[in-house]
Amino acid sequence: MGEEVKALQDISLEIGQTEFLAVLGASGSGKSTLLNMIGALDSPDKGEVFIAGQPLSGMTDKELTLFRRRKIGYIFQFFNLFPHLSVWENVALPLLLDGESPGKAKDRARKIISDVGLQERIDHLPQALSGGEMQRVAISRALITRPEILLADEPTGNLDSHMGEIILNQIRELCTEYKRTVILVTHDHKAASFADRIVEIQDGVLIKNPSSKIQ
Ligand SMILES: Nc1ncnc2c1ncn2[C@@H]1O[C@H](COP(=O)(O)OP(=O)(O)OP(=O)(O)O)[C@@H](O)[C@H]1O
Ligand SMILES: [Mg+2]
Repeated sequence: MGEEVKALQDISLEIGQTEFLAVLGASGSGKSTLLNMIGALDSPDKGEVFIAGQPLSGMTDKELTLFRRRKIGYIFQFFNLFPHLSVWENVALPLLLDGESPGKAKDRARKIISDVGLQERIDHLPQALSGGEMQRVAISRALITRPEILLADEPTGNLDSHMGEIILNQIRELCTEYKRTVILVTHDHKAASFADRIVEIQDGVLIKNPSSKIQ
């Protein structure tokens, strides 16, 4: 047994339904852990996560699976692409799992993959891609369903500043045009500046937590 790590402590955070929130913090401060709790990939030892007034701890495993698939878009820090699926299959996966036909799913994937400049790569496997290209595939997969809640873990960490800005504008648009919730975690002040509100986390504690002005 290793030593106990308290990754998060006394976090109290309310996020508006149409808000773009950035959580800014150094490496190891607890950002990914926080996103995993909000996205029901991990659960707190104490406390509760409420989504639209419902406690996640009250959901069955089946409800949690559907919640993750239908309501949440995750952009993982380390992408989590499926190595045996092509670029378009990775991007279309949320649609395919929900019963969309392969033809229609591919058409929708093609559009979003083109938006991030990867149209030439649509049939390639992830192993043939650079880190930034993989990140754009991961972003496309999260955006394809226009999820009610987007959880973005350092989504521009592997991108040059031009591509980073394109992606952050797309994320901004998801929030503004489609009235979705976005939670972006990052150590990058520039990425955080695209948000409506910035909170800061340090050693698992929110050291700056201005209240939300957006419902
Ligand atoms: N499964 C685990 N077991 C033990 N400690 C963990 C585990 N996962 C994370 N931690 C620790 O919890 C703390 C927060 O980790 P977390 O991954 O949330 O940080 P982060 O802010 O996302 O960092 P980075 O910017 O480097 O991705 C770190 O000290 C980390 O070592
Ligand atoms: Mg992290």
